Amino acid sequence: MPDNKRKILVTSALPYANGPIHLGHLVEYIQTDIWVRFQKLHGHECWYVCADDTHGTPVMLRAQQEGVTPEQLITRMHAEHASDFADFGVAFDNYYSTHSPENRELAALIYKKLQAGGHIAKRTIKQAYDPVKQMFLPDRFIKGECPRCGAPDQYGDSCEVCGATYSPTELKNAVSALSGAKPVEKESEHYFFKLGDFEESLKKWLFPEITAPRHVQPEVANKLDEWFNAGLQDWDISRDAPYFGFEIPDAPGKYFYVWLDAPIGYMASFKNLCAAKGLNFDEFWGKDSKTELYHFIGKDILYFHALFWPAMLEGAGFRKPSAVFAHGFLTVNGQKMSKSRGTFITARTYLDHLNPEYLRYYFAAKLGPRVEDIDLSFEDFVARINSDLVGKYVNIASRAAGFLTKRFQGRLIEERELMAEDTHISSDMALEQRLYAEENAILAAYAERDYGRVVREVMRLADQVNQYFDRNKPWELAKSSDPLLEKRLHQVCSECINAFRVLTIYLRPIMPRLADKVADFLNLQGELDWAHLNRYPTKPIKEYQHLLTRVDPKAIEAMLSASKESLKMTTTETTPAAAGIEPIKPEITIDDFGKLDLRIARIVKAGYVEGADKLLQLTVDLGEGKTRNVFAGIRSAYEPAALEGRLTVVVANLAPRKMKFGLSEGMVLAAGPGGKDLWILSPDTGAQPGMRVK
Ligand code: 2FM
Ligand code: ZN
Repeated sequence: MPDNKRKILVTSALPYANGPIHLGHLVEYIQTDIWVRFQKLHGHECWYVCADDTHGTPVMLRAQQEGVTPEQLITRMHAEHASDFADFGVAFDNYYSTHSPENRELAALIYKKLQAGGHIAKRTIKQAYDPVKQMFLPDRFIKGECPRCGAPDQYGDSCEVCGATYSPTELKNAVSALSGAKPVEKESEHYFFKLGDFEESLKKWLFPEITAPRHVQPEVANKLDEWFNAGLQDWDISRDAPYFGFEIPDAPGKYFYVWLDAPIGYMASFKNLCAAKGLNFDEFWGKDSKTELYHFIGKDILYFHALFWPAMLEGAGFRKPSAVFAHGFLTVNGQKMSKSRGTFITARTYLDHLNPEYLRYYFAAKLGPRVEDIDLSFEDFVARINSDLVGKYVNIASRAAGFLTKRFQGRLIEERELMAEDTHISSDMALEQRLYAEENAILAAYAERDYGRVVREVMRLADQVNQYFDRNKPWELAKSSDPLLEKRLHQVCSECINAFRVLTIYLRPIMPRLADKVADFLNLQGELDWAHLNRYPTKPIKEYQHLLTRVDPKAIEAMLSASKESLKMTTTETTPAAAGIEPIKPEITIDDFGKLDLRIARIVKAGYVEGADKLLQLTVDLGEGKTRNVFAGIRSAYEPAALEGRLTVVVANLAPRKMKFGLSEGMVLAAGPGGKDLWILSPDTGAQPGMRVK
């Protein structure tokens, strides 16, 4: 038990209510949950709150598309999210919603305090407006040609082909992704939070004196320094109706931008918990609070949590976070999660195929205190679960338990008998001492969020226990009727079971359910915690039952193909046009069609384009006596070598397009949703380059 009982409040970022929880999200929730469980098991008062992030345009539009109210949508999503988390053992003390009375009240209160402090400004700005849908368009809902490389169908904020970032007004031939209409510019009055007012105090908070505690990780501090150098801009915190959110006090038709009330949702969730548990809200959030407050977040939302949020808290007279802990992104098999590869895996699809504690263990093994991306490699996943977790740790119990239950009625030898000199085991006692001696190292690793170190340490100890078992050969001792050897057998197996108990305490924050099973097997319910670490068990153990099975690689295959399948289902769900195909475009005349000149072409050469991860550069022959250069966005689906020599169909009279990489003199036709699922066309045998397709 620690000397001083701390009071700690912990949050994870609030997931958006417009989509399912996936494995990328779970890195953070598992990371936070382990930390919270560790603090609780170590005897501190620790509260873990979260909520659905319910507001904003995407939720509003999705509800419209499904023909339900936003409230109905968020209620359904809340239930889905809550059960996903519960099934992964992510044990929030409160899982609430930002669309709550507490959040409405706190958002208004904070806003009014900021306004009274002179930190809110009003300005008229121009913004893209969809004249058909009659609403302002967030950048993500505008599509057009990239101003830098000319790639078609790019979002209003960045180009997926060349990586350029820009403002939506720079897009060429922009259209609304909602209605297809050309957006118009429209003026509107917006409310801004004057972040710059807090520059000095933020700097003090982020870069404290050398001896003072840090509030962000060192690499984050460097990043923040860049942001300060770029200058802190006013932050646009209002959106015009129609919007799903909270209306701004005294500003009819104006709503708080979702990101304004999202972090306030941390407070609101805790306030709701206070009412249920009789906790004192002000003790945790008051300006001079002595409690601790930690936010676990992804590196993509640092600006909000390390700048806007502490500034808002300060401006409104609340305490600032003790620390913000950022983590990196998840890649799967070394690549970004991809729907078409089946590696965009939802929490539910995973749960349908695999034990959630495998993932908790795997992520723990990969997680450290830095802002680094982590990779889920399924080969490594299988190896770590099967060889380490089952093959080393669980193995200890399965090898030693049988001798105890069959020969000694499940009783461990008395602790003082472990020391009995008649069996000359003093050198082996070092093992038990080594296990206990790691306590502080393990505690420190958990506290620093270095779970990779915890796992390495536990596996190193498990190796030693297995070696001890092998050295003493209990299977041979069991054959003898010599009472001394029988006693030796009892000692060895008792020591292994006690070691297994200690290792289970060390692993418990990572695998709480497995630990519960072990507690039942060892008859130690309520005793597998740090306070009991050095207490040698006195109750008989139960007969050994399977604690954890090995991962079957087939289950992983099945999960990946189920992910691909569920993707197909969601595409049909969100595309109301029947049968899952894209809607057919408006009718054209034969003359319209006649304007298109489609030709058979031979791909003479194909190669990669440096700096464009979606494009291939093709040299095509249309029988014109010269070749043409064409850039095609098919790199995700084709190796250049596989294309050389084959025939395909090209739009031959499309105006040449100047791209960053050169001139594109035609377009190769392809079908499919994208990624690996893209197929270019091939004519039947006999067609020749230059033949017209009509
Ligand atoms: O990035 C996201 O998914 C946001 N919904 C996170 C919000 S965290 C907090 F500020 F509410
Ligand atoms: Zn581009």
